[in-house]
Amino acid sequence: MKIKLFRKKNVRKLLMQKGDVQLKKTMGAFDLILLGVGAIVGTGIFILPGTVASEHSGPAIVFSFIIAAIVCALAGMCYSEFASAVPVTGSAYTYSYIVFGEVIAWLVGWALLLEYGLATAAVATGWSGYLSSLLAGFNIEIPHAISGPFSPENGTYINLPAIFIVLVIGYLLTLGIKESTRFNTIMVGIKVTVILLFIIVGIFYVEPPNWTPFMPFGMSGVLSGAALVFFAYLGFDAVSSAAEEVKNPQRNMPIGIIGSLFICTLLYVAVSLVLTGMVPYTSLNVSDPVSYAMQLAHQSWIAGIISLGAVVGMMTVILVMMYGGTRLLYAIGRDGLLPKVMSEIHPKYKTPVKNTWIFATMIACCAGFIPLDKLTELVNMGTLIAFTIVSIGIIWLRKNKDITAGGFKVPFYPILPILSFVMCIFLISQLSFHTWIACGIWFLIGLTVYLIYGKWHSVMEK
Ligand code: ALA
Repeated sequence: MKIKLFRKKNVRKLLMQKGDVQLKKTMGAFDLILLGVGAIVGTGIFILPGTVASEHSGPAIVFSFIIAAIVCALAGMCYSEFASAVPVTGSAYTYSYIVFGEVIAWLVGWALLLEYGLATAAVATGWSGYLSSLLAGFNIEIPHAISGPFSPENGTYINLPAIFIVLVIGYLLTLGIKESTRFNTIMVGIKVTVILLFIIVGIFYVEPPNWTPFMPFGMSGVLSGAALVFFAYLGFDAVSSAAEEVKNPQRNMPIGIIGSLFICTLLYVAVSLVLTGMVPYTSLNVSDPVSYAMQLAHQSWIAGIISLGAVVGMMTVILVMMYGGTRLLYAIGRDGLLPKVMSEIHPKYKTPVKNTWIFATMIACCAGFIPLDKLTELVNMGTLIAFTIVSIGIIWLRKNKDITAGGFKVPFYPILPILSFVMCIFLISQLSFHTWIACGIWFLIGLTVYLIYGKWHSVMEK
């Protein structure tokens, strides 16, 4: 029984595995960087800096961003090595299947479903909020009753804009990855331009006294801030889900993952420096800090453009996160741990149309009815668990004789993978107790599903 729970995939067989209908290989390194920036830059920069600067880090939020970036860069290198050695869809789930065996892979997949599903839903509700305030600027009101989670005492019943955006993007994903990446490219262009606009205009309104005190809540504030702004970097791991749709993945995967992380870090550091320089950190506790700072500087039209950019920017986060989720479901379904319908590819569009609709519907229900602000910490937890497994998994990966030489390798082995593992554990320790409990419940459910269904239907059982 024990041995069967930990049955592993053979890398050589995995790389040769070919279904009747396959995903199309259309993406290059630049597409991957765009996909990464599309997935990463969203609520984390347009909404999060407000609360984190005012309640945790102060102007030293720039350090929180840098610490979170280091953790992500280390994990990103480990992801790159895996993605380059085993360019198969399914990301951390598939990697764990190779090095740690089925039950661990299933639990990692289960954690990732939490990440992709809840992050998408959370960003969709953030999008709905930004859209409401943007439309309010044009004197268009979305009725209160249909623009919030189910909460009769507050007079809200359903968040229709959030449901709408999830379903629209779900539809787009069914059309094909090339169509989706084309949409992504345009949107990424807009959001990066808007962020650069903020930085360039904002510099002229920076008042250095706003940076003192620089670290009002001390080092502990900077660290708890880092565990929160970690959310801002989520998404680069979704890039590795694209492995089967990438040309020359050995070379392009690492460029895509590390390149997109690097660009985002530069943007975040610049935005947080300018933002805390423009407005005293104590006044930043608003839901749209970036455009709020521009309003204070009497640059209302730039504030409007930034709001528009935020609405657009968050759409690509929804797109890529949802993409990651559907490819994960595809990989799990192909292995038999979830029903086969999850791995059916549409003969014309060459995308998993059915699983996309199933996933989109579930996310739409979460985004439409559940208040999500409390649940985003859970997203960080799910992701960090996947990161720890991928980091330490490198040690086992290197021992695997089936991996061909020549792909990307994490430098300073084994120090960096171990450091990555330790730093992820440290950030997990910074998350709150109720997040630990909620996560425990989620894993218990996952384990039950595996024991009742997955274990018996697994392709490896046959
Ligand atoms: N990194 C993504 C965002 O900040 C999840 O919206």
